[in-house]
Amino acid sequence: MSAATLLILDDDRRFAEATGEFARQIGLDPYPVTTLGEAMRMASRQRFDCALVDIGLPDGCGLELLAEPRLASTRKIVMSGDASLATWAGRSVPGTLGVLTKPFRFSAFRELLARTFPSPASPGSLLGRSPAMRAVVDELEAVASSRFPVLIHGESGTGKELAARLIHDRSARGGRFIAVNCAALSAELLASQLFGHRRGSFTGAVEHEEGLVAQSDGGTLFLDELAEAPPTVQAALLRFLESGEVLALGARSPKRVDARVVAATNVDPRRAIDEGRLRADLYFRVAGYEVRMPPLRERPDDIEVIAQAILDDLNREYGTARRFAPGAFDTVRGDRWRGNVRELRQRVQRAWLGGGEALVLDGPAQERPRETRDPRTLDDIEREAILDALIASDGDRAMAAARLGISTRTIYNKLARYRADAPDDPLHAAQ
Ligand SMILES: Nc1ncnc2c1ncn2[C@@H]1O[C@H](COP(=O)(O)OP(=O)(O)OP(=O)(O)O)[C@@H](O)[C@H]1O
Ligand SMILES: [Mg+2]
Repeated sequence: MSAATLLILDDDRRFAEATGEFARQIGLDPYPVTTLGEAMRMASRQRFDCALVDIGLPDGCGLELLAEPRLASTRKIVMSGDASLATWAGRSVPGTLGVLTKPFRFSAFRELLARTFPSPASPGSLLGRSPAMRAVVDELEAVASSRFPVLIHGESGTGKELAARLIHDRSARGGRFIAVNCAALSAELLASQLFGHRRGSFTGAVEHEEGLVAQSDGGTLFLDELAEAPPTVQAALLRFLESGEVLALGARSPKRVDARVVAATNVDPRRAIDEGRLRADLYFRVAGYEVRMPPLRERPDDIEVIAQAILDDLNREYGTARRFAPGAFDTVRGDRWRGNVRELRQRVQRAWLGGGEALVLDGPAQERPRETRDPRTLDDIEREAILDALIASDGDRAMAAARLGISTRTIYNKLARYRADAPDDPLHAAQ
């Protein structure tokens, strides 16, 4: 899951940037801007999960931004140097999470955010003490200081995105970490997002828009699910990697961009090449260095450490003091862990929800139907595929549908049918 986006609007550039840096450290994806105009343009281009907005600005009033219909579902934090103005503004703007009077402590800001994003937005760090995990972290740290493009591959939920962030964080590159999911959008939208466009270059291009590649100048461009990128986008990415320049749609001259490229794929890149999905020349460009994230079943020693960290987070968040029973991991160490750490998180959550002071991990949700109904029917296989996709997408149905190549409506219909067939099935927790 990509980090929650945070728009920061404050006319004091240093303050906006420092707040952005703090937000980045706690795992958000910050967009600091200093004028109302810039903020309006940003808001027209992309969705924000949260906005931190100053009221008094040189080119207008922050309330104008907060009233934008595009920010209707955005959680808002209002700030001002004037306490009563901030309080008044906070009351009058729907969706306000809280108000901050400047100067404020970052801890106050973090507390407000923790209410919006209950499971900490922080992507955390790669945990695990197994030799396999240590070797990977050593590799990531070593390659971070170079400028080599890196290709990370590994099964879903093995921490590829965390690995990419680690490379950026240790790289001393001052720019931003920009993550792009190459599988989520149509070829046209993805190309326009990546490379940007000039006003009037196509119907609907009312604004000049800088692409994500250009925005990652000085930072890191993370191309997630690269093997799923449509062929036209792969060709354009290859041109960028070879020339170091991007050409926005409708633009006359290209722009130089110094971005470190890190890509990820959850399929074996060589197989994707053989199957004609991934261009071999793009692969060789991107895989200046290749890192394989080991699946959890190859490092069962990490299960307990990671599960404990997940439980600690839950206890902290909900004020509980639940613990794992002695031997809680004995029966699951040899499991297949198809969803890797994501599946582990789901199983710890399910155990925690079950309550009691001594938690035991159950078997994997998606393997239970097999025990009771054998041989599997086509329906079972379909059901498992849907659940796998849901686990891999952190429960996001639209993303799961995209992974499966079916419409969101279909996934909703199928889930509704499973619910109707077996209302007591614990699998519904995953839905
Ligand atoms: N070694 C680890 N330590 C702690 N948390 C981890 C670790 N590996 C993965 N996670 C957590 O598991 C979840 C999945 O990780 P991430 O999104 O990085 O996986 P991914 O490899 O990118 O998966 P996908 O291919 O499905 O996108 C995240 O919540 C992440 O924080
Ligand atoms: Mg990922």
